[in-house]
Amino acid sequence: MTEPIDPRLADTRAALESAAARGAQLDGIALARDPARREALTLEAAGLVIDFSKQRIDEAGIAALEAYSEAVELERWRRAMFDGESINFTERRPALHTALRRDPARPLIVDGQDVMIDVADTLARLRDFTDRVRDGRWRGASGRPITDVVSIGIGGSALGPVLACEALREYAHPRLRIHFLSNIDPDVWARLATQLNPASTLAVVASKSFKTIETARNAEAVRAWLLGSVPEDKLHRHLVAVTSNVAGAEAFGLAREAIFPFRDWVGGRFSMWSAIGLPLMLQVGADRFGEMLAGARAMDEHFASAPARANAPLVMAWISLWNTLALRVNSEPVIPYSEALRRLPAYLQQLQMESNGKSIDRDGRPVAWPSAPVTWGEPGTDAQHSFFQALHQGTAAHPVDFVLVIPRGVDPQHRDYTLMANGLAQGEALLRGKAADTGGDDAARALAAHRGYPGKRPSTTILIDSLTPARLGALIALYEHKTAALGWLWRINSFDQWGVELGKVVATGIESLLDDPKAALPDDMDASTAALTRWVRSGLHVRG
Ligand code: F6P
Repeated sequence: MTEPIDPRLADTRAALESAAARGAQLDGIALARDPARREALTLEAAGLVIDFSKQRIDEAGIAALEAYSEAVELERWRRAMFDGESINFTERRPALHTALRRDPARPLIVDGQDVMIDVADTLARLRDFTDRVRDGRWRGASGRPITDVVSIGIGGSALGPVLACEALREYAHPRLRIHFLSNIDPDVWARLATQLNPASTLAVVASKSFKTIETARNAEAVRAWLLGSVPEDKLHRHLVAVTSNVAGAEAFGLAREAIFPFRDWVGGRFSMWSAIGLPLMLQVGADRFGEMLAGARAMDEHFASAPARANAPLVMAWISLWNTLALRVNSEPVIPYSEALRRLPAYLQQLQMESNGKSIDRDGRPVAWPSAPVTWGEPGTDAQHSFFQALHQGTAAHPVDFVLVIPRGVDPQHRDYTLMANGLAQGEALLRGKAADTGGDDAARALAAHRGYPGKRPSTTILIDSLTPARLGALIALYEHKTAALGWLWRINSFDQWGVELGKVVATGIESLLDDPKAALPDDMDASTAALTRWVRSGLHVRG
C-alpha cells in the first residue's frame, strides 16, 4: 500500500499549481523591462553567465518553486548524490559522476572504500596510454603510428565524446582523427572503413555493459577488418576497451592491460568524465581533459553550495518545471549559436529524456505533472531558416535555451558578429513580438494578422566567453545538475532507464523471424507488425 501524500508536499504542490495558473497571464515583456529583476535572474556559475530574465515568471512563481523544493527535500537529495548514497533507488546504487571530477586530494568513502583511489588509478592509466598514442610511442603492429581512432559505442558511450570532440576540435592533435561508430546500420562502418588503413587505426570498444547489441556487432565487424591485415598476436596494438564489465571485455578477447574500467555507479549518460572520455583524451590530451573536469568541478561546487535562488542548475530546473505548468508546453529547444556545439541538442536529448522520461514517482504513484519536455534543436543560424517560423508564430510558445559563445571578432567578413547578433536578436524578437499593422489598404489589412507576432515567448540565454575545455565541462555539468534537480522535483529516479529494455527484447524476437523466413509469426503479434514483418520477409526473399 502506498503511503498517503505528505500534507506539506500536497500544499506546496497546490500552491505551485495556482501560481503557475496565474503565471500564464503574466506580461513577459513588462517583466523583462525591470532592471532589478534582470539582475536577480542573471546568474554566474563556473564562468558561465545565464540570463533567465526573459522567462515569464514572477516573484510569486519563484517563491512557490522555492517552497516546493523544500517540501521535496531537494537539498537532502543533492547532498546524498555528492556523498555517494544510493540515490538510484531502483538499481540500489549511487550516481557518482561527480566523483570523476572531484578534487583527487579529497577522499570519498562509499561502502567503506575510498572511490577516489580507483578514479585516480584509471585516470593515470588513461594519461599514460593517451600520451603514448599521441607522441607516437604507441605504434600499430607494422610499426606505424596511430592516425585514426574508431570509437565503437552508442548512447552515453558515444554522445558525450561526440559532442566534446566536435566542440574542442580546435585543440585536436594534428595527426589523430577521431571517428565514431554507433549505429548498427552496416552502411556506417562500410563508409567509414573506406577512409581508414588498419595499420594505423586504433579501435576503442566503449560500452558500460559490454552487452549492447549494436556495439557488440560493430566491434566484431571492426575486429574482423583489423584481422584482415594485423596478426592476431599483435591485435592488442589496435584494439582496446572501456567498460564496467571487465569480464565481458576479456571474453571478447582483450587482455586486462587493454581494458580501461569504470564503476557501475557512473550512469551511461553521465559517463563522459570516466574512461568513456578516452576518444576525447586522445584528441585533446590528458591536460585539456583535466581542464574539462575542472570546469565541471567548478559547476559541481556551485550546485552544491549556492543558495537556491542563485543556484544556476536549480533555477534552470525551476524554469523548466514552471514552463510545463504555466505555459503547458512540453518542449525545450536548445539552439547553440556555435557550430562547434552542434551536437549539444543530441547529447541533451539522452541526458534529459532518458533520465527523466518516467511516469512513476518514488512512491510508486503516477508522476504529478508531465515530465521530460522534448529536447530538440539545431545550431543557429541554420535553425532560423527551418523551424523558427513555428517558434515565432506557431500556436505553442516553446521556451528556448540560446547558447551563445562570444566571438573573437577575427573574421574578415564579420560573420562571427553576424552570428552573435542573430543569437541575441532571436531572444528579443520572441519576447517583443510585433503587433499586426492595421494601416494601409484592404489588401494590406488582410495580410496584417499574418504578419504579426504574438511575442511574450520566453527564452534563457547562456553566454560563454570562449569555448575552452573548462567552459564545456561547466556547460555540460550545468545541464546534468538541472536534469537531476528536475528529477527530484518530479520525485522520480533520473538514473535508471528501464524504458529502453522492452524494445530490445521485441527486436530480438523479430530478428529471429527475419533470419528464418519460414518461422511462424507469434499469435500474439499485432496485425500491423505482423503484416510489416511479412512484407520485409518477402522483400528479403525476392532479393535472396
Ligand atoms: O539502451 C540505453 C543504454 O543502456 C544507455 O543508457 C546507454 O548509454 C547505452 O544504452 C549504451 O550502453 P552501454 O554503454 O552499456 O553499451
